[in-house]
Amino acid sequence: MAPFNKCKVVLVLEFNWILYYVGHVVDTCKVTIRQHPFKEVDYSVSTVNITCSFSASGCPGSPQMLWFRYRDSTHEALCTPECIEKFKVIGSLSNNNSLLQINKLSVNDSAIYICGIAFSDSDTHTSKQTGGGTMLVKRG
Ligand SMILES: *[C@@H]1O[C@H](CO)[C@@H](O)[C@H](O)[C@H]1NC(C)=O
Ligand SMILES: *[C@@H]1O[C@H](CO)[C@@H](O)[C@H](O)[C@H]1NC(C)=O
Ligand SMILES: *[C@@H]1O[C@H](CO)[C@@H](O)[C@H](O)[C@H]1NC(C)=O
Repeated sequence: MAPFNKCKVVLVLEFNWILYYVGHVVDTCKVTIRQHPFKEVDYSVSTVNITCSFSASGCPGSPQMLWFRYRDSTHEALCTPECIEKFKVIGSLSNNNSLLQINKLSVNDSAIYICGIAFSDSDTHTSKQTGGGTMLVKRG
């Protein structure tokens, strides 16, 4: 009995090793994000689109598209779990882009808008990235 048990332990170890190894070899998910650094709009503009283009290689499933903004040294998640009516996220996996539409734009919406793309089915750290941010300035 003892040799059999020993053999089973070795098999289980080997199996786990293969699964671990295969999982990590197959998943090489890497996301790269590009955002325009700067956008300035006139006082009269009431709706603006902030764009985010990304490319993803070796990523399983569909990405979550997240948006944040930094303003007055605080940051805010904009559409998590849901967008308030002022914001709208339009994403397209086939065009590799995520677009944040800001409505009823006020001078107070001048901020740095940061896009985040996360493939949650992947466990590599390169599967979750944030862009460099777009500084939006609405002229007063
Ligand atoms: C923002 O993007 C949406 C969807 O692509 C488009 O319908 C709309 O005209 C755009 N608005 C501006 C101000 O560019
Ligand atoms: C979109 O990303 C895919 C990989 O997910 C890549 O093969 C393709 O070239 C990208 N397309 C564009 C338009 O950037
Ligand atoms: C903009 O921010 C200022 C100062 O925080 C506040 O007094 C004002 O009501 C805000 N205006 C709008 C339109 O949100």
